[in-house]
Amino acid sequence: MMYAAIMGYGTIGSGVAEILENERDRIARSAAQEIYLKYVLDLREFPDSPVADRVVHDFKIIEADEQVKLVVETMGGLEPAYSFVKACLSAGKHVITSNKALVAAHGTELLQIARDMDVNFFFEASVGGGIPIIRTLYRCLMGEKIQEITGILNGTTNFILTKMDREGASFDEVLREAQELGYAERNPEADVEGYDTCRKIAILTAMMTGKEVNYEDIHTEGITKITDVDFRYAKELGTSVKLLGTSRIVGEKVYTKVAPVMIGKEHPLYAVSGVYNGILVKSDMLGTSMYYGSGAGKLPTASAVVADLIEAAQNEKTNVPIGWGTEKQEIADNKTSECCYFVRIAGTVKEKAELVQETLGEVRTLALENVDEFAVLTKKICETEFTKRAIALDSECQKKGEDGIRQIIRAELED
Ligand code: HSE
Repeated sequence: MMYAAIMGYGTIGSGVAEILENERDRIARSAAQEIYLKYVLDLREFPDSPVADRVVHDFKIIEADEQVKLVVETMGGLEPAYSFVKACLSAGKHVITSNKALVAAHGTELLQIARDMDVNFFFEASVGGGIPIIRTLYRCLMGEKIQEITGILNGTTNFILTKMDREGASFDEVLREAQELGYAERNPEADVEGYDTCRKIAILTAMMTGKEVNYEDIHTEGITKITDVDFRYAKELGTSVKLLGTSRIVGEKVYTKVAPVMIGKEHPLYAVSGVYNGILVKSDMLGTSMYYGSGAGKLPTASAVVADLIEAAQNEKTNVPIGWGTEKQEIADNKTSECCYFVRIAGTVKEKAELVQETLGEVRTLALENVDEFAVLTKKICETEFTKRAIALDSECQKKGEDGIRQIIRAELED
């Protein structure tokens, strides 16, 4: 029998407790021993819950209990999660976390402590909710050289963008719904500003390169500037807008970014909607593979935690070599990377066609009814060149006292 503790009895922690209770026999068969939940650490009491008699408020009880060898961290945030996890690993306990902020910020150090102590630090649930992507990378694809990972990695923003696309729903209304469904972060800014996706693509990039990635080096844009008007144009084009985290290895360089991107129906991630996440992996022998499933929510995420618990129990005395080392991965400047750009411009095509041609070059023009603007889709162009041209367009408009560019969205479309 192995004794476990859960730190943080929120959405995911309570899901883990529920699965451990309901699936006790099946888990015992997979782990080759029973996993018994001894403690639940939380500031609150849960008198009506099945774990009421196991709730403790003092971390030291877990730290000091030598019987407890498996610790689940589902508190979220950096502190006290970091101090508690570090103390548990240092005390020779396996730690399983769903906390991407923790893994992105302190993963290198925590993985190293786990190696030194011959225990495991597993974090499958930190990326893609219930989708087995971390284990896929370190186990199933271990013979592959990964060249690119692109993913819809945040359920909340995908839920919001899907509802805006399909129902014309307002941003605030859908965000509230995502919060009620337990998808959103405690502070939903982390979702909508792309910070959550940024941590997740940082973790995947570190898994891909085997080196430490500083998430602060990753260019990150969220979805707060995406409007219903963008989706009206997207519909005309047969496209949609998704928040993508991308990491590409080109030669010796690694290009990574998080941004809303317009993609067409032929893109494998186009069909990933609602709270679902999708992760596209390009590798040298397998080619393109895609991993799809529930990216957030109580039981899907708890399922990934339980899988890690079982793997830790199976490897009670061994450190499974996963993750990355202490060498730092430099993130290359995206300014040379190429894509198309979707640009909305105030005024009419008739007034501005010549200026657009002179500045943005050859474009596809789009017009909607009942709006005082139009949109264009550029050819593939590098970021530096596009920025230069967009500034030129805007300054010509300013000289005439007219409004210029209203919106810019990167587009991964065929020219
Ligand atoms: N807030 C996150 C999301 C939870 O919406 O994807 C899962 O990491």
